[in-house]
Amino acid sequence: MNELFNEYVKSIDTYIMFRIKQEATKLTPELEAKGRAPIALAMGAPVAPPPQFVYDKLIESLKIPQIHTYSTPKGETFFLEAVAKRMKNRFEVELDPQTEIFSLIGSKEGLANFIRALINPTTNTDEQDVILVPDPGYASYTQMIKTSGGKSYGIPLTKADNYMPDMNKIWQKMIQDGIKPEKVKAMVINYPSNPIGVTCTKEYLKHIVDFCKEKQIWLISDAAYCDIYFDEKQKPHSVLEIEGAKDIAVEFYSFSKPYSMTGFRIGWICGNADAVGAFGRLKSTIDTGLFKALQKCAAEVLNSKEGDDYIAAANKSFKEKQMIVINGFRELGWQIKDEAVPSATFYIWLPIPPRYKTSNDFTSDVLKTSGIVLVPGNAFGTNGEGFFRLSAVAGDDQLKETINRLKQDGFKYDI
Ligand SMILES: Cc1ncc(COP(=O)(O)O)c(C=O)c1O
Repeated sequence: MNELFNEYVKSIDTYIMFRIKQEATKLTPELEAKGRAPIALAMGAPVAPPPQFVYDKLIESLKIPQIHTYSTPKGETFFLEAVAKRMKNRFEVELDPQTEIFSLIGSKEGLANFIRALINPTTNTDEQDVILVPDPGYASYTQMIKTSGGKSYGIPLTKADNYMPDMNKIWQKMIQDGIKPEKVKAMVINYPSNPIGVTCTKEYLKHIVDFCKEKQIWLISDAAYCDIYFDEKQKPHSVLEIEGAKDIAVEFYSFSKPYSMTGFRIGWICGNADAVGAFGRLKSTIDTGLFKALQKCAAEVLNSKEGDDYIAAANKSFKEKQMIVINGFRELGWQIKDEAVPSATFYIWLPIPPRYKTSNDFTSDVLKTSGIVLVPGNAFGTNGEGFFRLSAVAGDDQLKETINRLKQDGFKYDI
């Protein structure tokens, strides 16, 4: 019966993070027996509880008459207006709540359905629509494109150009690599970046907007981490701050990371009204919107002092965790210059020790020997080979324990 599934679904595996989790679970009894119970540093999910304010508002809203009934796919007006207010306060971006904003069941769902709305599916690789994605980048982009019947083309993010590549050069290289320019539908950017933790300048965003306008392709900006940053001077921007960006851009936001609301599943897309409208037509046939109580507590926290204070405190704590890990790896022999310490996100992206051939060899050895769950860099694209990602979201004690175990088990950078 399996052959009845379509070619796209048959071509993908379970999402990498869940596979890593399964592998760690399988090894747990063996690891526990040697005092190395798994420490989960793979998933990008903050462990601290969401703001108490969110729970209070959620409980309060459960008492509102008819709160239990269907919402609309777009989102309730109070939610859309709260998003518009947030975008204005945070970025000085003006949005029409009714035509330029749409609610999401988390930004992952939104990205997947937006990509699905763009691609004309085919299994003929020569004829497939193309979406440009950061490499290394969030592992789901390529899988979403694949399951929609298209193909991705990696935009290499390297230290050499400060992770802000010249898109005109990439376009030339892409043509040399045999991609037909007329097949390119969109490009994805993700600043601050998962997995690298870097931000980009406003000038660079302008370069991207100009490029997408010239090529007449959609710009998909994934801003899931825009509120997790450590340096006011490098405070992340919205692409919609760039004049004229709304002609070609949509941006995705999430409550998951800034408010630790990963399990709530809520976010929004905003930007170009035609794109939001087309996406909305697709969404209205797929789901029927979010639980209204959820929209209520999310709307309330977005423009609250409690929400802003929570983000500030969380960032302070993420910074402390980051430095426990960075200093720990420095002691283990990794050369990490101050300017290479990520200015945003809770991710740490480091090279594997030279004695390992592949990222997988290193992360498997660390898991089997020390019970530390990391992600091999190649899970984020071919340019991720030779690196690993650590998500510094666990308790401080667990992070210190991680470093201690790596020291005890001989994981020096260079031996
Ligand atoms: C870059 C990026 N975008 C989007 C998401 C999806 O987040 P959510 O669906 O929880 O909003 C993630 C989650 O890890 C991510 O890393």
